Formats: sequence, structure tokens, C-alpha cells
Amino acid sequence: MVLNGDPQYLFQRAYAADFNPHDKAGTMTELIGRKLRAIVLIALPFLGAHASGAELPGSPGFSEETSKQTGIYKSRGDAVPAGYVIDRSLLSYAYTLSPEFQSSLANLGATDRWLDIGAGEGRAILDYCTSKYSAMHKHEAAISIEDRRTIHWHRTAADLEPGQIRYLFGKRLREYSLDELGNFQIITDVMGGFSYAQHLSLFMEKTLAFLELNGSFYTVLQDVRSEQGTNRPYYPDAPFLTEITGAGGAEVRVCSWLKNITCAEVTCEYKAQWSPPIEVYRVRKVCNDVRVPALVPTHFAAGTPPERRFQLQSPLPAALDRAGATYSEGGRNDK
Ligand SMILES: C[S@@+](CC[C@H](N)C(=O)[O-])C[C@H]1O[C@@H](n2cnc3c(N)ncnc32)[C@H](O)[C@@H]1O
Repeated sequence: MVLNGDPQYLFQRAYAADFNPHDKAGTMTELIGRKLRAIVLIALPFLGAHASGAELPGSPGFSEETSKQTGIYKSRGDAVPAGYVIDRSLLSYAYTLSPEFQSSLANLGATDRWLDIGAGEGRAILDYCTSKYSAMHKHEAAISIEDRRTIHWHRTAADLEPGQIRYLFGKRLREYSLDELGNFQIITDVMGGFSYAQHLSLFMEKTLAFLELNGSFYTVLQDVRSEQGTNRPYYPDAPFLTEITGAGGAEVRVCSWLKNITCAEVTCEYKAQWSPPIEVYRVRKVCNDVRVPALVPTHFAAGTPPERRFQLQSPLPAALDRAGATYSEGGRNDK
């Protein structure tokens, strides 16, 4: 398989990054990651991907990274990269996401709906449907770019009421309309579109449009500058996986960007003990006039998840900036 032999791909595998709730010393994924990272340090000077900026949108490098990413989505069987985890359980979602996720799920009303963006096999939804919570025939939907449904999904769907669970694939979240999907009380994204999307602000706009008033979006990013700003990238000499820059290249923390969305009440919780560390987010929609500060993609390198950089289109308001612990003018805040 071409992808597996590609050194640039190996570079991304270093992030393979399906996180593990253990410390740095412990996990196999992480040990593999470090080994691959050593390969990269040798391979990169020949590729020159970072140095040339070849991955800027519209450039040949960007298209190449996009098609590598498509290769990951299309991978099947042994070709699925080890870091591309598609079968997390509901328990794993509950363990990863903000603690409120479990109570939100338990409190879903009879007509409320749950959407899982980037659902992979849709196992979390299957676990939910076959649990005691599903007795009231609520409705759940799973979205994935590629169809990862298993025989387990098909059998469970056949046993449930028609339409109780839906699996939609073949498109990215941003390509769905409100008519197609409807509104949801809970939206989750565990290493799905929020970690993989090339157009992050568009992704957030769409997600919040699908969210009911007072509904919550639960998600996570790994290896990202935390709200407190005290952490460094997990891999030495590598950037964070998702970075936002503001005016003059100053850093904007993801948590701060989220806190500047109007009509959104946001909590950010950094989990330093994970490998790589993660930050989990809860975004509650508190009114309908949602406006997401626009981000322009400036870098994309394929991976599981990909490495992404974005440029904030307009500065964040200063007052909100302080509240959100945002960027320091004049460069990256490495403290
Ligand atoms: C690593 S898998 C995660 C699967 C699942 N959440 C889990 O934890 O087992 C990534 C999933 O995100 C999906 N995905 C990535 N970008 C997406 C986007 N923009 N819109 C919808 N799905 C997306 C992929 O198709 C895939 O289903």
C-alpha cells in the first residue's frame, strides 16, 4: 500500500495518536509513535514539507495532503492505519468527554436526539441503543465520511424501530443541510470532524446550527495548547496538532476561540495525564444568534488526526480575550 511506505505518512503516524488515558511511559501507541518520529527526523529534510509551506491551501502540496487524508478514510482491513481508531465504545466516550456528557445523555427526553459526528463504526450509538437508556425510543444519528458500519450495526438497526438509528456517510458535516439532519439536543465528536476538518470555523458553524437551543456539543482535541497555556507540544520539535494564530502571528488558544463564539457557553478541561494530553470542550448553545470567529486554513498535513494551522480572520474582542486567556501580542506564548 503506497501510503504505508510514504515517509511523510510515517511522520503523521507519529501522531497516531489515538490517545490513551495512561501516562507517557506506558502505551504501545506512544512507543510506536516515538519510533516513527525518529524516522521522520531523517525523512523530512528530503520532503521539505514544513520548510516549503507546500501544504498551503491551493498549492500542489495541499492537494497531496488532502488525497493522503482521503486514502486514510478509504482504507480497509490491514491498510487502516493503526492510529485510526473507529470503534470507541460509549464507555470510552463517557470517560473522555466532559463529565456533563453522561448526565446530558441520561436526561434526554423522549423526543430529543443525539448526533455523533465522525462516528466511525458508530459503536457508541449502538451501545446506547442497546442500553437501558434507549427504552424510550429516542433517535440517534451517526455521520462519517466513509461507511464503517459493521454487521453489528445492521443487525441492531434491524431490531429497532425504523429510523431510530441513522448512519449517514459520503459527505462531510459541512455539506449537510438542516432539512437533511434536523436538530439535536446532544452532539458529540470524539476524534471526528472537530479533529479532522480542514475548515474548522465552518465545521463549528454547522455543528451549532444543528444544535437545539440549550443543547450541548461535546468534543475533544489532543496535543493542543491548553486554556491555561502552560503545556508544550507533546512531541519534541513538533508543533501542536491544531494551532490558531491571530494578528502578527500571535497565538490564539482553541479554548479562547471557542469562548468567543456568540451564543455559546464554553468550558474547557485539560487532561494532562493522557498520552498525548487532551483538552475536552463542552459548548452549550444559549441563544440563536451564533457567530463563529472565522478561521482560514493555512496548513494541513494528513494524519490520524491531521496537523492543522488556522489564521483568525479578525481580532477577537479584547474583553473576551482576557476572559478566555487568549493570545499574547508579538508571538507565541510559550510560558
Ligand atoms: C478516527 S475516526 C473516530 C471514530 C469514532 N468517533 C471513535 O472514536 O471510534 C474519525 C471519524 O471522523 C469522520 N470525519 C472526519 N472528518 C469529518 C467531517 N468533516 N465530517 C464528518 N465526519 C468526519 C471520519 O469519517 C471517521 O468516521
